[in-house]
Amino acid sequence: MPFTAKDQERCRRDFPSLARTFNGLPLAYLDGPAGTQVPEAVIQAIAGYYRTSNANTHGEFPASRETDEMLHATRETVAAFLGAPSGREISFGQNMTTLNFSLSHALVREMKPGDEIVITQLDHESNRGPWLNLRERGVVVREVALRPDGRLDPEDFARQVNGRTRLVALGIASNALGTVNDVALARRLSREAGAWLLLDAVHAAAHFPLDVTALDTDFLLCSAYKFYGPHVGILYARPGLLDRLPTDKLRVQEDEAPYRIETGTLNHAALAGVKAAIEYIASWGEGAGLRERIVSAMTGIAAWEESLAAYYFDQVRGIPGVTVQGPDFAGPRAPTVSITIDGVDPRDAARALGERGLQVWDGHFYAIRAIEVLGLAERGGVLRTGFVMYNTREEIDRLLEGVAALARG
Ligand SMILES: Cc1ncc(COP(=O)(O)O)c(C=O)c1O
Repeated sequence: MPFTAKDQERCRRDFPSLARTFNGLPLAYLDGPAGTQVPEAVIQAIAGYYRTSNANTHGEFPASRETDEMLHATRETVAAFLGAPSGREISFGQNMTTLNFSLSHALVREMKPGDEIVITQLDHESNRGPWLNLRERGVVVREVALRPDGRLDPEDFARQVNGRTRLVALGIASNALGTVNDVALARRLSREAGAWLLLDAVHAAAHFPLDVTALDTDFLLCSAYKFYGPHVGILYARPGLLDRLPTDKLRVQEDEAPYRIETGTLNHAALAGVKAAIEYIASWGEGAGLRERIVSAMTGIAAWEESLAAYYFDQVRGIPGVTVQGPDFAGPRAPTVSITIDGVDPRDAARALGERGLQVWDGHFYAIRAIEVLGLAERGGVLRTGFVMYNTREEIDRLLEGVAALARG
């Protein structure tokens, strides 16, 4: 369903933080790739859990039973969000990084020295570090090269994957450059090698409808704070796969998926918020079931965000002294645009823009390998702007004015 300028105006009223001003100016949240703002419905769900049902799980009393029911419903809701067959494939954790480390501890027990893992130069460190650490255990880690245009090199990808590859781990979309990777190529190469495919969907989940079944992935990870929810990590594992993995687990913990990788007590209130965040997204779509409404809403929101990002991209690259770092909008592209400004340190630029009430990030955003490979590490990385459903053309015009002023010096 199309997401229009009217919808965007309407949706802004749902996010209390968007009403803030700073130095007499509306505060523009253009920092979505590091975490979005949260609508009132999510705040209410979290507060509501504490007000009524706050208890631990598996007790024989009402608040505990309600908590069990809420957790079950949240798993089913996330399954609908990701296109998974059921909530049984959905595990939760503190954040994506922690879940990926846990997964790496399990997967390495299924590997032997000399086995190989393929990662990429474009990925966030959370999808590199856990795998690079396995070198201590004799695992060989190869990385797919990033080209200067901000895309992974498909020929190098094919060279890195071979008969010893046990896992291919890559992001669907880059939080640093907005690149959308060729996941179909990664699936084909990993399938030919008999390797698992693991997708980091942390950046992608905020911007595109996801379908783990169509992606045919073994694992997919994302984080609800990037799509209008609280700080919770999410792991999808292919049906039956997690049940067989030797995870770090206590004797008293349930053996089967999705619990097998969940340690200790989850953040129940936040999980009530995750469910509300997905229902909030779905409220912008149409269709008979939750999955249909999610896909319909995300399709409309994706087109809206892309129109904002493409506008910024076209305008900003026309400013003398500004270079866009990352791919153009000719192919699939996330609505995240990073730039450098000649002679201006990105940190100073972010600070100056912050004074104008324009909140944008500077640096490497943990995608440090990509920034190093592009030769931008010494100059402080890039200045990143991310667009989500509530951003406006007016915010972009203010940002363009601010960037132009910085570029003029
Ligand atoms: C692409 C990408 N992957 C992974 C992460 C890590 O997610 P988390 O903070 O949930 O560990 C981030 C966070 O910024 C990210 O942008």
